[in-house]
Amino acid sequence: WPAFAEDIDAILALKRERNAVILAHNYQTPEIFHCVADIVGDSLALARKAMTVDAEVIVLAGVHFMAETAKLLNPDKTVLIPDLEAGCSLADSITPEDVRLMRRRYPGVPIVTYVNTSAAVKAESDICCTSGNAKVIVESLGVPCVIMLPDEYLAKNVAAETDVEIIAWKGHCEVHERFTATDIRELRYAHPGVTVLAHPECPPAVVAQADFAGSTAAMSDYVGRHKPARVVLMTECSMSDNVAVEHPEVDFIRPCNLCPHMKRITLANIRATLEENRHIVMIDRQIAEPARRAVEHMLSI
Ligand code: 13P
Ligand code: SF4
Repeated sequence: WPAFAEDIDAILALKRERNAVILAHNYQTPEIFHCVADIVGDSLALARKAMTVDAEVIVLAGVHFMAETAKLLNPDKTVLIPDLEAGCSLADSITPEDVRLMRRRYPGVPIVTYVNTSAAVKAESDICCTSGNAKVIVESLGVPCVIMLPDEYLAKNVAAETDVEIIAWKGHCEVHERFTATDIRELRYAHPGVTVLAHPECPPAVVAQADFAGSTAAMSDYVGRHKPARVVLMTECSMSDNVAVEHPEVDFIRPCNLCPHMKRITLANIRATLEENRHIVMIDRQIAEPARRAVEHMLSI
């Protein structure tokens, strides 16, 4: 912690000077999540809270699609991301042209796009969803069939819970695709009675073996509500660190996987972002308008 103190003090001063707020995703490391962030949460909470921010500058401590979503909802504010290379394997798995092809292949079928995509992909979509609201969004459309892009596993996990037919894409999260049902069987054998929570980006076989599946916020709420004696979160590593701070009585077992994109964000580059006003997130107006419509359509439900 002493190694972080100088950067933390500098960031807190810079936030006041620049009238800035820091939005941090649940996968950010604890020194970011607990010491400098103003708003924390899952993708859905960050999008919702981005709309209520009363500041001139938003720093998004998370990955690029999250910063783009904040910019879509705050076109007049300066949105900064500490590292432009903080991407996402799901966002990289699909292009706007792919979405147009799907629309031509399945005429009239609505396209629900996970927020883990570029603004250009959102712009080709009818509505967005997050892992926290995917089933509600799919069912809100009142149709027998939807296209859900780009996460194959999220689409299959939602399909298992609804009567709506779901046409999926082939994108995967490079972090969650590595968990297996065998991991869970081994964990249950090694830690009898352990509660297993999984993110819905995990393969369906993993979700089927878990006690509960939900977004990062839903997993955190589950721990708060049920206070299991022992829990494992089948998700990114920092999640357990952040939730464990609030629940010292819960024993966290930690076979986890790191997201290299989330880990690009550090106290040092958050400080540099505010000092040097870089990297400013910009979205072309022709893309921003339809992309914002897709995000706002989601937020209206
Ligand atoms: P949440 O919306 O559940 O926070 O998930 C975002 C994400 O990137 C998970 O890998
Ligand atoms: Fe993307 Fe997976 Fe990293 Fe989330 S954990 S940002 S879905 S690569």
